[in-house]
Amino acid sequence: MKEALFRFVKEEMNQYVGHDFDHSVRVHRNAMMIAQEETCDMMVVEAAAIVHDYLDHKFSNETTSRKEKLSLVLQDVGLASSQIDHVITIIDTMSFTKGVPMTTMEGMIVQDADRLDALGAIGIARTFAYGGHLGRPLYGTSESSLQHFDDKLFKLKNLMNTSKGKVLAIARHEFMLMYIEQLAQELRI
Ligand code: NI
Repeated sequence: MKEALFRFVKEEMNQYVGHDFDHSVRVHRNAMMIAQEETCDMMVVEAAAIVHDYLDHKFSNETTSRKEKLSLVLQDVGLASSQIDHVITIIDTMSFTKGVPMTTMEGMIVQDADRLDALGAIGIARTFAYGGHLGRPLYGTSESSLQHFDDKLFKLKNLMNTSKGKVLAIARHEFMLMYIEQLAQELRI
């Protein structure tokens, strides 16, 4: 199942900076780490983690046809229709209604796994890569990449759903604080 879904994501999503295939691989790995400590439907967690960015409105305005395509792919890899509905509900909620709490353990795990990839050393790398892609300055304005840490990234650790997610997020949060401190010293800001 995993391999087929990774292949699907690789084909469909590799042109998107910060939400590319490697992001899916990392979110899947994070989700596995968190799921070990929870009671959950692993098939739903794995599938949702791998395809979680596929319906993001940033990527398409043909959401309905993408949903149908995704349903077929999930069916092909052996998910039951209730599991398919669950996966689609999870990634729909993650994509469009940010800030709305997830209602199932599987959703909480995948949301935490995605948030973890925005934190720590990889979170820093992604922030500057994405900022560069949009032509944002590194620092010094309210539109800068550095501002994104205060606007979003430093808030994430308090939004984690699972206890394992929280522990992992705190470690990555601490590392980002150290990084920002060093950066501020170098820049004298
Ligand atoms: Ni994501």
